[in-house]
Amino acid sequence: MKYQKPKGTQDILPGEVEKWQFLEKTARELFGRYQFHEIRTPIFEHYEVIARSVGDTTDIVSKEMYDFYDKGDRHVTLRPEGTAPTVRAFVEHKLFGPEYQKPYKTFYMGPMFRYERPQAGRMRQFHQIGVEVFGSDNPAVDVETIMMAMEFYQSLGVKHLELVINSLGDKESRATYRQALIDYLEPFENQLSEDSKRRLHENPLRVLDSKEEQDKEIVLNAPSILDYLNESSSAYFNQVRELLDELDISYTIDHRMVRGLDYYNHTIFEIMSAAPGFQGAITTVCAGGRYNGLVEELGGPDVGGIGFALGMERAIITLEAEGITIPTSQPLDVYVVGIGDRTNGATLKLVSHLRKLGYSADRDYMNRSAKAQFKSANKQQASFVITIGEDELDKQVAQIKHMGTGEQQTVPFTELYQDINSLLKQ
Ligand code: HAM
Repeated sequence: MKYQKPKGTQDILPGEVEKWQFLEKTARELFGRYQFHEIRTPIFEHYEVIARSVGDTTDIVSKEMYDFYDKGDRHVTLRPEGTAPTVRAFVEHKLFGPEYQKPYKTFYMGPMFRYERPQAGRMRQFHQIGVEVFGSDNPAVDVETIMMAMEFYQSLGVKHLELVINSLGDKESRATYRQALIDYLEPFENQLSEDSKRRLHENPLRVLDSKEEQDKEIVLNAPSILDYLNESSSAYFNQVRELLDELDISYTIDHRMVRGLDYYNHTIFEIMSAAPGFQGAITTVCAGGRYNGLVEELGGPDVGGIGFALGMERAIITLEAEGITIPTSQPLDVYVVGIGDRTNGATLKLVSHLRKLGYSADRDYMNRSAKAQFKSANKQQASFVITIGEDELDKQVAQIKHMGTGEQQTVPFTELYQDINSLLKQ
């Protein structure tokens, strides 16, 4: 029997995992500068938490959930995204209390699960890096959140980024628009795709981002949500735009962008990449928005929230499409060559000593010849090679070679143990 990983999943092997670590490190450093702190929530949640937040009629909840009944007959699901779990934790631990900094700023990174049709950059188990900010309705927070997402990609050297924004307004604006959209779409009902027909009354905004040609044509003349924003929603969106302008962050407005999760209102945004390697195709590399009302929906106080998430698989594909290479191997400081069976203990002791001092060190465990060991040292790009043969062992000395300059010297073991730092100075 030949076993294979489940469809839509990936093994991240050594050599590849370094890219992931690099993204994580970049995010941690950047978010740290913005004073965001990490949160880790369970990989599975009660089904209700996700269904109520993301919305029963969304594709994510209605088609893509990895949900099941556990042995205690509880309806649970692998998390398809990070916002709902973070909001649940925010409410459960009363992170809105007076002892916490406001706004409350947190980030997460980890696997998410959606039963989707796998393709490049779309997995069933994928990984997100995401942030959430709770407790402020200041448009500066929207802009700061957007800025942080842009900065993440820019700090990795990604250049071909496009920021697209829109506003869904508050509850009232959205309800008025919803009706206007239904009124507009109803006469076309028979011409809509099957999916859109179903969405027309369930979740009409989703018809706007249908990928079906027949829907796209109809939607072209649909009313714009921006014409249905009430005064305060419109003022809010204008402030976001003014602040983006003030910070020289360029963007386009797409009034048809709606996002596939129900909790959004006011500002929503997506960052697209048109990296040369994508050959004209455009990929959404980050997406987010405001979700005022969601904390209350999950039993907390009426505090607003905003955040984003970026797919790590897509971030890595984007780096490749931009031609950016990430250092993938941990440099090796010292390779210890042992010649002869009797040196087995001395070389083990030496690598262990070096590692305790903070150097990376390696040796042979396959009884390879001296020549083969030197070959390994070269392959691993060791900065220094220390050789101990049986002769040297008897004399309690070793040869130390600087691989860059080729310089070699004989040093007594005592010096090797007492003064290795100066010996390994480049
Ligand atoms: P989302 O648009 O569903 O938003 O996902 C965010 C990002 O996750 C996408 O732009 C994409 O890069 C990545 N992604 C989504 N699905 C997949 C998949 N199947 N395979 C690979 N990558 C994928 C959310 O999840 C919201 N929680 C974002 C948010 C946070 N809004 C506010 N706070």
